[in-house]
Amino acid sequence: MALAVTSSSAAISGSSFSRSGASSESKAVQICSIRLSDRTHLSQRRYSVKSLNAESHSRSESWVPRASTLTAPEVEEKDGEVEDFEQLAKKLVDASPLEIMDKALEKFGDDIAIAFSGAEDVALIEYARLTGKPFRVFSLDTGRLNPETYRLFDAVEKQYGIRIEYMFPDAVEVQALVRNKGLFSFYEDGHQECCRVRKVRPLRRALKGLKAWITGQRKDQSPGTRSEIPIVQVDPVFEGLDGGVGSLVKWNPLANVEGADVWNFLRTMDVPVNALHAQGYVSIGCEPCTRPVLPGQHEREGRWWWEDAKAKECGLHKGNIKEEDGASEDSKPAAVQEIFESNNVVTLSKGGIENLMKLENRKEAWLIVLYAPWCPFCQAMEASYIELAEKLAGKGVKVAKFRADGEQKEFAKQELQLGSFPTILIFPKSAPRAIKYPSEHRDVDSLMTFVNLLR
Ligand code: ADX
Ligand code: SF4
Repeated sequence: MALAVTSSSAAISGSSFSRSGASSESKAVQICSIRLSDRTHLSQRRYSVKSLNAESHSRSESWVPRASTLTAPEVEEKDGEVEDFEQLAKKLVDASPLEIMDKALEKFGDDIAIAFSGAEDVALIEYARLTGKPFRVFSLDTGRLNPETYRLFDAVEKQYGIRIEYMFPDAVEVQALVRNKGLFSFYEDGHQECCRVRKVRPLRRALKGLKAWITGQRKDQSPGTRSEIPIVQVDPVFEGLDGGVGSLVKWNPLANVEGADVWNFLRTMDVPVNALHAQGYVSIGCEPCTRPVLPGQHEREGRWWWEDAKAKECGLHKGNIKEEDGASEDSKPAAVQEIFESNNVVTLSKGGIENLMKLENRKEAWLIVLYAPWCPFCQAMEASYIELAEKLAGKGVKVAKFRADGEQKEFAKQELQLGSFPTILIFPKSAPRAIKYPSEHRDVDSLMTFVNLLR
């Protein structure tokens, strides 16, 4: 590979950070640039790569506007022109990823970069190449990625003749976390803290050197959190180069593309993919927090599987999480559409459940879902639960539902092992206590196995 370093510094990645005064910040980003020019299939194109700015504004790093409190207009001012990104997203709703990528690169030039980690992002890079415009790519190296992922990064650099601009976590922060809590604290107290140190803060640093970023998010990736992501938006969470609310634009060119179509594209274009996909992995993050999924399982079930489904955003895209997805569920209005409506599903009241709990020998086993109708994960399992109820009708197992939010929540937590929605219980025929379904696999076959083993 021919590599021409044109700066005295060899800082070609986020591992070497620029420090600049706040006033000259925007210009000081370009501490180094390299040119790579060896890819035959790129017809000797030359990419100019400058290091992502690691500099923070003087304000506290913890200052993050919440989506719900964002009041700035969705605009970018450029030569007096005001861009309305909400309108632009509507205009681009039927555009192909290639058109969207072209538009994004044209608008933001050297101030935009692709956030790279997985299969979708290889597609993004391929689209960027196809536009014929120069582009930048950055990745957050958490230090906990699979070896196969590092191999993919290397293969992508070689295939496209680029240098990925890696961002690393702050060594002192990682040290403090690991020394205090060990290497696997996320299994004990959740992934948020480790993700904050290893991913979110490095991302925030990266974005401070940009005016826009491009992600591989798709709507069908996570029904609970990503079903409404727009093609382009003012980033509701992070700040860009100019600082302040509304200073960063986020592009999601694959928002409307289905996973299968991304894979068709990758296969057709014959580009590198992560070797873990051949072992059943679909959505791939850090090694300790990612596992393969079974056929038919949703890809997101392979990420942070020990946690509530609603928490499955690591913070990179936390603008996707709405209040109603979890945090303030007690305050949810009752006026949402009812779910699990079927003649084969019995609606239980608190009294009904209390009676069931008292019985030592029931005539039949009872399978009960504790649910909240507004919960997207309850909605997602509705069809399988109804199908299961149909299959079990007249077979000695009653299938029921109990709405356990609002006033019933404390009772459900105390008496019915409610952790998060949905919680599924079986009251076996002859055992006094309910047994909680321990898995997130809520397809008919998995639930049926549970019932048959414990009825
Ligand atoms: S995550 O938030 O759950 O980790 P996911 O793996 O679905 O995200 O990826 C969605 C998009 O976020 C990717 O297409 C990519 O643009 C960006 N992304 C995720 N992980 C990284 C990473 N380690 N480095 C850079 N971008 C990332
Ligand atoms: Fe840490 Fe897991 Fe988050 Fe990676 S995905 S940063 S290992 S908690």
